[in-house]
Amino acid sequence: MNILILGRGKTGSLVAEVAKERGHRVSVLGASDNSRASALTPARLAPIDVVIDFTTPAAVLENIEACIQAGKNVVVGTTGWYGELAGIQQRVEKSGSGLLYAANFSIGVNLFFEVARSAAAALQHQYFGQVFERHHAQKKDAPSGTAVALQRIIRDASGTELEITSFREGDVVGMHELVLDSASDTIYVCHDAKSRRGFAEGAVRAAEWLAGKKGFFDFKDVWRKL
Ligand SMILES: NC(=O)c1ccc[n+]([C@@H]2O[C@H](COP(=O)([O-])OP(=O)(O)OC[C@H]3O[C@@H](n4cnc5c(N)ncnc54)[C@H](OP(=O)(O)O)[C@@H]3O)[C@@H](O)[C@H]2O)c1
Repeated sequence: MNILILGRGKTGSLVAEVAKERGHRVSVLGASDNSRASALTPARLAPIDVVIDFTTPAAVLENIEACIQAGKNVVVGTTGWYGELAGIQQRVEKSGSGLLYAANFSIGVNLFFEVARSAAAALQHQYFGQVFERHHAQKKDAPSGTAVALQRIIRDASGTELEITSFREGDVVGMHELVLDSASDTIYVCHDAKSRRGFAEGAVRAAEWLAGKKGFFDFKDVWRKL
């Protein structure tokens, strides 16, 4: 495929590397090439099969909008824009393009979400729950998109909204923990990423899956099919 990656940062660079390893033609735009989505014209996007966005919460909505307007499928890894999710879903469905997003593209994290969904049953049995997340000091959004997704999963499964505590320190790739505490024991459900490679592989495989499809997709509903 011909893939355009938005963002030359920590994750976008790795996504470009993985996409090349998997035999795709890859081009990359950074912030200085694409201020306010200025590079994403229909002509520039015409030869592209799928766009992958790993930019910033401030840039992502204009990038998505440009892709929708050009009828281009887009995989969105950037977090921090989920307040606009419903509106974007409507726009994608109306335009007939394809968008697949994930708070976290790692298969391990998606398995962790399923374990957490089962563990949420404890909240009906006098357990007190909390979510902790730890990331590198440069991360722009807090709480992390993954922690917010975990909070939503627990709320849907148990009706209880857990508090999220965020730590920003050093170069931590990403650690998420659900702690369920009762008078008799404590349950820890934890995912600790060792590198960004799991995110990059998941995002490229998501782009391969999305090629030629129309609609609005959440990675958690499709990762088993990749
Ligand atoms: N879903 C997942 O699995 C997952 C995994 C990891 C990270 N993330 C999310 O992905 C995003 C990026 O993370 P990161 O760690 O890679 O951050 P990062 O290292 O700060 O990289 C962000 C990059 O976006 C570039 N950028 C900003 N505006 C742009 C624009 N309009 N067009 C093109 N590029 C633009 C920046 O360029 P400059 O350096 O020139 O400013 C920067 O290189 C964050 O929201 C993060 O939470 C998601």
